[in-house]
Amino acid sequence: MKRLEERIRKDGVVKTSQVLKVDSFLNHQMDVTFFYEMGAEFKRLFADRPINKILTIEASGIGIAIMAGLHFDVPVVFAKKAQTSNMDEDVYATQIHSFTHDRMNRVVVSKQYLHADDHVLIIDDFLANGCALEGLIDLVKQANGTVEGIGIAVEKGFQKGGDRLRKQGYRLASLAIVESMDETSGEIVFRDQK
Ligand code: G4P
Ligand code: NA
Ligand code: NA
Repeated sequence: MKRLEERIRKDGVVKTSQVLKVDSFLNHQMDVTFFYEMGAEFKRLFADRPINKILTIEASGIGIAIMAGLHFDVPVVFAKKAQTSNMDEDVYATQIHSFTHDRMNRVVVSKQYLHADDHVLIIDDFLANGCALEGLIDLVKQANGTVEGIGIAVEKGFQKGGDRLRKQGYRLASLAIVESMDETSGEIVFRDQK
């Protein structure tokens, strides 16, 4: 999505060669008109799939996911990061490794909101190592649902997650793929997607 690449070039801040800050429109302040356009692009990219539900993870996936939900006219479920482990809860639970905080987070979805007849589009804002997405895929599998596709706003193509998920056969579409970043010049190179 050319408009996202342009927006990242204009408003993104290269913190290090590994970390891109997009707080002014995506991760802190949110440009909702632009989110609406990203939702429309996800609809275009996955229009041929029988999607009846969107799944994301709190917090910063939610804004983009609801815009996709609006265009598909389907419910949006967000997985919750739950600190306590309560065996009696009626939830599907998985563990997600956070590289940023170097710990495992327990993530849950109520069994009420994920079913065997669900055809799920997974949405998230960032894709780095792919741990969050693998956790979300695991939740859909536990429910015996179907992952129809994965839609990402910003993929860091130099980290391992995207290519691993594609190798596993998932239909993964990222609106922008950052191939490399230079922290001195601030230059950002995007992967050519056609
Ligand atoms: P992974 O799921 O792909 O393995 O991601 P990782 O653990 O490496 O990243 C941890 C968090 O940081 C995730 O958000 C992820 O979306 C975000 N993130 C990773 N790389 C970048 C980056 O370069 N820029 C920005 N802005 N975010 C990045 P989270 O902890 O799940 O939290 P939340 O913000 O959604 O609540
Ligand atoms: Na985030
Ligand atoms: Na996220």
